[in-house]
Amino acid sequence: MPADLAVLGLGRTGLPLAQAAAAAGIGVVGYDPDPAVADEINAGRVPPGTLATADLRRMLACGFRATADAAVLGRVRTAVICAPTPLGEDRALDLTAVATAARALAARLRPHTTVVLESAVYPGTTEGFLRPLLEARGLLAGRDFHLAYSPSRLDPGNRDHRLTNTPKVVGGRTSACTEAAAAFYGRFTERIVRARGLREAEAVKLLETNYRHVNIAFANEMAVYFHDLGVDLWDVIRCAETKPFGFQAFRPGPGVGGPAVALDPNAAPPFTTGRSRTPGHPLRMVELAQEVNGRMPRYVVQRAAALLNEHGKSLRGARVLLLGVTYKADLADQEGAPAHEIGARLIELGAQLCYHDPFVPQWRVLDRPVPRADSLWEAAADADLTLLLQHHRTYDLQGLTVKAQLLLDTRGATPAGAAARL
Ligand SMILES: NC(=O)c1ccc[n+]([C@@H]2O[C@H](COP(=O)([O-])OP(=O)(O)OC[C@H]3O[C@@H](n4cnc5c(N)ncnc54)[C@H](O)[C@@H]3O)[C@@H](O)[C@H]2O)c1
Repeated sequence: MPADLAVLGLGRTGLPLAQAAAAAGIGVVGYDPDPAVADEINAGRVPPGTLATADLRRMLACGFRATADAAVLGRVRTAVICAPTPLGEDRALDLTAVATAARALAARLRPHTTVVLESAVYPGTTEGFLRPLLEARGLLAGRDFHLAYSPSRLDPGNRDHRLTNTPKVVGGRTSACTEAAAAFYGRFTERIVRARGLREAEAVKLLETNYRHVNIAFANEMAVYFHDLGVDLWDVIRCAETKPFGFQAFRPGPGVGGPAVALDPNAAPPFTTGRSRTPGHPLRMVELAQEVNGRMPRYVVQRAAALLNEHGKSLRGARVLLLGVTYKADLADQEGAPAHEIGARLIELGAQLCYHDPFVPQWRVLDRPVPRADSLWEAAADADLTLLLQHHRTYDLQGLTVKAQLLLDTRGATPAGAAARL
């Protein structure tokens, strides 16, 4: 059956987009080349980090279907590409899935279709990489079909800011392309923000993502420095964030997780002649942020060892309980969570690990299952050290500080003075 919209890639970005469009009465078909993903979705089971089960069930009841059959792509007015762009081994974004999605679409592309890329990419990618792939059958972007970029701005678990009430930035190859994309998103988002063009819209993603990484890195650097000075960082942040202008509080943590990796175009391949590549300017702030944030898991393990040492114990042989192994509080998603590296380092140093997480029924580190603590209180009382990595809402930290033999809180969630904090 023809649909208004095809979403290509039914993960954390694509499925919420499909849901928001379907809820606005738009006929949506979901395409994912992995048949297992499509089957699971059609059976009402949500992929991690995407939607609430009830939302998916509602979509399915309204006629939404997922499929691994690319034939559906030939019958839609709008196609949005939400394929994954993970970091490759060379630390550059791997655009393979975007290319595969584009080829699947190009083979069936019809005139007047609006094609939007939402995957995180470097500026220049839509024009220099995606456009030639889409034009392979002779249709031209800006003349025969519309081509635009719109950065995904999802914040999973955020109840105040959802896709529909978060302003949507769009930038097209031509102004007609921008308007076509704006008209599409305007059907289910409250506010559209038009960028000057493709590059500007892509650069919005770069700016926003790196803003987060750089500011978290600064908070992490301050955490390490203030600890050495004997200054209570969390108290400093509490005071600083009362400044009504010019300061936005970011908090340190055991490492930066989640799917939104820092974007450093210096690692990008030169798609086009001209300006898609950074012209000889390394993004020092971004590089430093990655370096500083990347050191945090190791720092947390050092602090754990030091804390045990202060109490006459060594990490080797110590029972260590990890609390919260997901990348974000109150979510089940483990993508990029620093808990893995911390767990691996602790095991390598001889600690006996167990974990507790209400969202994670099974957890593996170094390819081995880590025992799961059923009773939080008992496990905390039993462990030589409890390491709070994620502050899930269900954790009663006041109680934990009483029960735990030693507690290292990497989230600043415990009351001042009640536990060791980052
Ligand atoms: N998750 C976020 O919060 C977020 C925020 C901003 C931007 N992004 C970006 O959005 C893009 C998608 O990320 P995600 O988090 O949704 O990924 P994801 O891993 O959650 O899901 C990606 C989905 O795409 C499917 N896929 C793989 N190859 C495909 C192809 N050739 N065609 C169509 N689908 C394909 C996979 O099977 C998977 O179901 C990435 O570029 C990411 O950086 C994500």
